[in-house]
Amino acid sequence: MSDVRGDSLLLEAQGVRKVFAGERSFLGLGPRAEVSPVLHGVDLSMGHGEVTGLIGESGSGKTTFGKCLLRIVEPSGGSIRLEGEDWLRVPKDQLQQRRTRFQMIYQNPYACLNPGLTVESHLKETLKVICGITGSEADDRVAVELGRFGMEDKRGAYPGELSGGEKRRVSVARTLLTEPVLVVADEPTSGLDASVKADVLDAMMYARSERTAYLFISHDLDVIRFVSDRILVMYRGRIVEVMEKERIDPDVDHHPYTVRLFEAARSEVPTEEESKALADSASVVGALEGGCPYRSLCQIWQSRGRPDDACVRERPELITLAPHQKVACHVLAEEAGVASPQTPVSSGSLEAEPSQESVT
Ligand SMILES: Nc1ncnc2c1ncn2[C@@H]1O[C@H](COP(=O)(O)OP(=O)(O)O)[C@@H](O)[C@H]1O
Ligand code: SF4
Ligand SMILES: [Mg+2]
Repeated sequence: MSDVRGDSLLLEAQGVRKVFAGERSFLGLGPRAEVSPVLHGVDLSMGHGEVTGLIGESGSGKTTFGKCLLRIVEPSGGSIRLEGEDWLRVPKDQLQQRRTRFQMIYQNPYACLNPGLTVESHLKETLKVICGITGSEADDRVAVELGRFGMEDKRGAYPGELSGGEKRRVSVARTLLTEPVLVVADEPTSGLDASVKADVLDAMMYARSERTAYLFISHDLDVIRFVSDRILVMYRGRIVEVMEKERIDPDVDHHPYTVRLFEAARSEVPTEEESKALADSASVVGALEGGCPYRSLCQIWQSRGRPDDACVRERPELITLAPHQKVACHVLAEEAGVASPQTPVSSGSLEAEPSQESVT
């Protein structure tokens, strides 16, 4: 994926893998339970100021990927370069200091707010601890930030006196105050009603510096479409589709899983069948015997699949289906007349992957 802005890449992640070690039994005695591979080699490149949306339903590995990029969770394999630097070689004791430029907005930002500090104190504390800025310079920066987020009248309020949307805005304001170049925003609008959601999104998009890039994680396709230059669709730890802005359109050909996500986003209230299908797709981990991981839920396969199809034999890799679009699907590749690169899966479930990665 190229840097659409033409300047040097902010982030180049290749083949990022994560395998969580299983828990030991009671008192740490006995063998570990089975390891659980969560990311199976995820690539992402981003330029400064870009917004990449990462979508997939609960349990697909979105948060783990975001945390691996920032080394909040250590990846088990792959490579990550941030602003050209080999990020995986940065010593652990330097990570905290470096992360001021690479930050995460957590799914539950409330936990990060101190109930005994006012909004203004939260912002000043952040400037002091992270940027070493105090006094009149801090006063000025905080005043500007409160203005950007429309929170001037809340400067003296404590978290307990704020609405859900206001708490999110404080959390976002704190993050942007330090002028990071990359923010991993994990479900920053989940649980908010529509108007508050739009409000928080607006604040996030317009209060950032022009070099601040977002990896915007959500299971809400509508939100992601609104903000993104590019969308990655993740299914069980693999990217099954990449759409640049030009292809973020429900009416063009998409991976069957993306189609399902578009359909769920279109219906205001998901039907019982859709809810069940989406829940099922998150819970069938390990149930397949090779081939395409999405097969058991795939509409195309269900309507015309045969036992000797490539869908059964080989795992599809991402291929360029159209300008600005990559898809991991044998049938779409064939229909578009593109040779589908394949990864043979000799036997066993998805968990029986070739594994040169360490288990952490
Ligand atoms: N610390 C951990 N230890 C073991 N398994 C984990 C850990 N964190 C996440 N997982 C597992 O990784 C999978 C993906 O989780 P997550 O990245 O949170 O998905 P998402 O953000 O898409 O909902 C889930 O099955 C989850 O249980
Ligand atoms: S490769 Fe086959 S099973 Fe997988 S998504 Fe495409 S059509 Fe469906
Ligand atoms: Mg998550």
